[in-house]
Amino acid sequence: MSEHKSIGTFSAESRRFEPSADFRARARISSLEQYQTLYRESLDSPETFWRRELEELVFTKPWTVLAEGKVPFVKWFADAELNITESCLDRHLTTSVRDKVAIQWEAEPGEVRRLTYAELAAQTVRFAAALRSLGVGRGDRVAIYMGMVPEVVVGMLACARIGAVHSVVFGGFAAESLRDRINDCGAKVVLTQDGAWRRGHVVPLKETVDRAVEHTPSIEKVIVLRHLGQERAPISLKPGRDVDWAEAAAAAEPAAGTPEHVNAEHPLFILYTSGSTGKPKGVLHTTAGYLAGAYLSTKYVFDLRDDDVYWCTADVGWVTGHSYIVYGPLSNGATCLMYEGAPNFPDWGRFWQLIEKHRVTVLYTAPTAIRAFIRAGNQWPAAQDLSSLRLLGSVGEPINPEAWVWYHEHIGGGRCPIVDTWWQTETGSILITTLPGAAEMKPGSAGLPFFGVEPEVVTSDGRAVGPGAAGLLVVRRSWPSQLRTVYGDDDRYVQQYYSEIEGNYFTGDGAHRDESGYFTVVGRIDDVLNVSGHRIGTAEIESALVSHKAVAEAAAVGRPDELKGQALVVFVTLKPGHTAGSELVSELRAHVGKEIGKFAAPDDIRFAEALPKTRSGKIMRRLLKDIAAGREAQGDVSTLEDLNVLAKLSADE
Ligand code: WTA
Repeated sequence: MSEHKSIGTFSAESRRFEPSADFRARARISSLEQYQTLYRESLDSPETFWRRELEELVFTKPWTVLAEGKVPFVKWFADAELNITESCLDRHLTTSVRDKVAIQWEAEPGEVRRLTYAELAAQTVRFAAALRSLGVGRGDRVAIYMGMVPEVVVGMLACARIGAVHSVVFGGFAAESLRDRINDCGAKVVLTQDGAWRRGHVVPLKETVDRAVEHTPSIEKVIVLRHLGQERAPISLKPGRDVDWAEAAAAAEPAAGTPEHVNAEHPLFILYTSGSTGKPKGVLHTTAGYLAGAYLSTKYVFDLRDDDVYWCTADVGWVTGHSYIVYGPLSNGATCLMYEGAPNFPDWGRFWQLIEKHRVTVLYTAPTAIRAFIRAGNQWPAAQDLSSLRLLGSVGEPINPEAWVWYHEHIGGGRCPIVDTWWQTETGSILITTLPGAAEMKPGSAGLPFFGVEPEVVTSDGRAVGPGAAGLLVVRRSWPSQLRTVYGDDDRYVQQYYSEIEGNYFTGDGAHRDESGYFTVVGRIDDVLNVSGHRIGTAEIESALVSHKAVAEAAAVGRPDELKGQALVVFVTLKPGHTAGSELVSELRAHVGKEIGKFAAPDDIRFAEALPKTRSGKIMRRLLKDIAAGREAQGDVSTLEDLNVLAKLSADE
């Protein structure tokens, strides 16, 4: 353990890394000056910038109005019409990309499947026709609860093809969470699969859907992909409701899979994410602006070229999967590796074997994974030939310099630039990073703004702070791929993002900026935790806990964790007649797992006589955070901690 002491620590970092001359020479943007010129143009002459940069994309009606309205409600490319799948698929069918592999998929047990752009397009068109024949049309919501299989991409694209709005729910969410999301958006159909592999076990996705849709009045059909087959993942289809994916696709008439041309602002997808209240927010993204952001950022940040094999290890259930497995890479005609299973199955060498076997050139992963690999040992990557890699990326949470340097050295062989990309579900695409051939890298600092983005670090009254000073991270003006609203709740959208600092988008993150303009994002300043790159709202955890019969009150806080970034610690008080102890700990963990999903199960559960409160009755979260971070939990979980003594002490200070 002790040798890894440093993997989760942040220190003042002075090391600097330059992209190699070799990398620069072939990069799309190869100098700071070139970046700055384009960046200035993107802010000062956005019409010229976007017109030129989006030239390749397919608009059936070109835009004449770049942006209409004022924040918080801006319409981008306001009068354009398009279907996003024509940029992702059809446009490639008349070029050599047609026969290029779009998705190179490896199952957890090792089977490999390749889908060319022509094949992906054919499957999408067929499935779009199938959806239409089942009564799904423009504006209808479709929930998707699937694992990492090529068909999940087909499902998403097929929805977009017919103007339906997909809402992908991460396969780790429990039935209750899935049900709430379906009900919030009023989905008509769910796409799912019999089961998915995870660490050698079958995750029974269809079974969870069955439980979820017991209480979802809007659901008319459940379309089930038989991925593992009846023997491995036995399921039953409910007559009248459940439809076999393959049968529906086979019966469909491809001629009925024509693209629905929609307005630029037509909703493309809803993705639920945690906020500071108990109810997850349905982040709504629309068509043209989202495409513009996903396409252009993928092109420049990953510096894509024709022969790249690009691998983003995220799950499609999160925004990273939407923008950087599906819409960004496909609109660029890239070859994407997609892997079904766990990073450490059958052992910690799996990622590195995948890279060697598929000759991956660009790898995009998360700091939490990197730290887990550090702990697993250098022998795993060392045993594999990683020389195909030319560029690395990081996303989801701040990357600590030690992990950055390890990634650079042990995975990138010292030769690959690292793009530390800062963005959010709400931003749709990467807003801050150092473009790989353009600028020097500072471990731990995300870097400079992407084109069209104007971030700032400000005080609580909106004034910009000077170099080095910490403040709130905001974005001064609208950018194409920003969320448009919280689904069905414009007030909440305005309240959450545009009420903190007048006229600015508030990210919820704290940051500072150095003399050369590099942004370092230090983490959330609201009640949202980032556990292993998963966004978890403390209020959601608390409401799950108090729904358990033994719990009177609960407070969830984060504590720094070497591997996960943050660990989830909860303090609970019990109702009379219930006893603290390890049995209740397991029960509460399981309860949160059942209510939200296993990934949200608390790391520590601590029982208290009472929660420390201010005079006005607010839970003293800061104090709980300090307790969680500093003081070891009592070994004996059956004793109730007396936190009020501490509360009094700290109030006296
Ligand atoms: C955090 C994931 C520091 C941040 C794309 C943000 C980061 C939240 C970085 C969004 C980064 C993401 N450096 N922090 N490079 N990337 N974050 O919505 O706190 O799942 O607000 O989107 O993750 O998480 P989300």
